[in-house]
Amino acid sequence: MSMNNANIEQPKSFAFTPENVEEAKAIVAKYPEGKQASACMPLLDLAQRQNDGWLPRVAMDHVAEVLNMEPISVYEVATFYTMYNLQPIGKHHVQVCTNLPCWLRGSDEITATCKRVTGTEFGETSDDGMFTLSEAECLGACVNAPMVQINDDYFEDLTPETAEDILNILRAGGTPKPGSQSGRHTCEPAGGLTSLREGEDA
Ligand code: FES
Repeated sequence: MSMNNANIEQPKSFAFTPENVEEAKAIVAKYPEGKQASACMPLLDLAQRQNDGWLPRVAMDHVAEVLNMEPISVYEVATFYTMYNLQPIGKHHVQVCTNLPCWLRGSDEITATCKRVTGTEFGETSDDGMFTLSEAECLGACVNAPMVQINDDYFEDLTPETAEDILNILRAGGTPKPGSQSGRHTCEPAGGLTSLREGEDA
C-alpha cells in the first residue's frame, strides 16, 4: 500500500482487546527472553486484523510499547512489508500478481477484469468499500499462475471468467472456493498425473 498516508484520518488511540492481549502474550512467549522484538511482525498483523485491516500510527505505537521497542523501529517494519496496510482498506483486499510467470500466463487480462469488476484502479478502494485493488509482486504460487490473493486466500489458475465469478461471489456476500480454479488438485500437472500413479496404468 502507499506510504503516503499524510492525509489519512488517524484514530486517537488504539489498544489490544482483552482477547488480543492474551494472544499477544502467547506470541511473545514463543521468543527467548530479551528477544521480544522478534514478535513485531505477528503483533502488527494482530493489530491490523483488530483494526479492520489497516495499521494506524497509534496501533504501531501500541505494538512498540508492548514490545518495549522504539516506535521508529516498528514503523520501519510496517512500512517495509506490503502485507501491512497503512491506510483504510476495503473489505476484500484483491492483490493481483503481475510478476513474470503470472504475466506470461495472462495476468494482464486478470488485471483488466479485476479493474472492471471492482471499478477501481491499482491503489484504490471501490466507492462501496468492498474492494481495494493492489498490484503484487510474486506471491509464490507461480506454478498455478495466474493468481490473485484476496485477504488470506489464494485464487489460482484464473481465467477472466473465473476471476469475475470470484469477485461477484464476494460482492454478494458469499465465500468463493480458494485454490485452483481449473479443477486440478493443488499444483498437480494440469494434464493429469504422469508419475507416482501406483496401481494405475501409466
Ligand atoms: S509470478 Fe505470480 S505467483 Fe509468482
